[in-house]
Amino acid sequence: MIVIAIDGPAASGKSTTARLVAQEMGFLHLDTGAMYRAVTLACMQAGLPPEESARLAKLLATLEIQFQPEAEGGQSVRLNGSLVTEDIRRPDVTRQVSAYSALPGVRESMVKLQRQIGQEHDVVCEGRDIGTQVFPDAQFKFYLVADLKVRAQRRFEEQLRKGLKPSIETIIAELEKRDREDTLREHSPLKQADDAMAVDTTTLTIPAQVEFVLSKIQAGRKKVDQTHRTKETWTSQ
Ligand code: CDP
Repeated sequence: MIVIAIDGPAASGKSTTARLVAQEMGFLHLDTGAMYRAVTLACMQAGLPPEESARLAKLLATLEIQFQPEAEGGQSVRLNGSLVTEDIRRPDVTRQVSAYSALPGVRESMVKLQRQIGQEHDVVCEGRDIGTQVFPDAQFKFYLVADLKVRAQRRFEEQLRKGLKPSIETIIAELEKRDREDTLREHSPLKQADDAMAVDTTTLTIPAQVEFVLSKIQAGRKKVDQTHRTKETWTSQ
């Protein structure tokens, strides 16, 4: 199976890029952030604080998260059967997600699920620790970055489209806080893998960043094919 890993800080363009690259290649788009968001929502609904506890372990053991690719791209997310695609993006969930996703118990169960999916499908997998922890042997690794102000503007417009009344100052402060928490946490912090290619999307349009990633995959694939061919020739002689 082929894994294309896309990591990076909040609102750096991972989801859009991953969705379109997956569409283009006919791969599954695996949004691991959506998984951590679903766990966060489940804990909030159950009134569970973000700390390791017997109740958290019990909840994780019974949690059923389902992803379903949608015709127009993207995916719907169900939590124990209920549709939560919109709810997991709520600002209150976004504010809490870093605290829950820092817990080793939460990471362990999500990473297990992610690896299982990656064993069964070719995937474009996006998150924070995909190239470093989840799939360290991924064939392709990208690390997306963009200036904070540009990332905040993207989230601002996204929230406007949803009919919310966003404040750019609040978005900037919250993005900074979440990146700080994700980068400084003990377990699987946000970090560029040594062998990942950095892509700065600050001034790139969506088609340009997708095109760039696809072109690198194409170039890399040729190399992979050639290595295989050489190896085959060598073994058969
Ligand atoms: O879409 P956005 O960039 O806002 O974030 P996301 O990808 O939905 O991820 C939400 C949060 O989940 C992150 O801020 C991390 O705290 C956590 N996360 C993680 O810890 N590990 C991952 N592989 C993916 C997300």
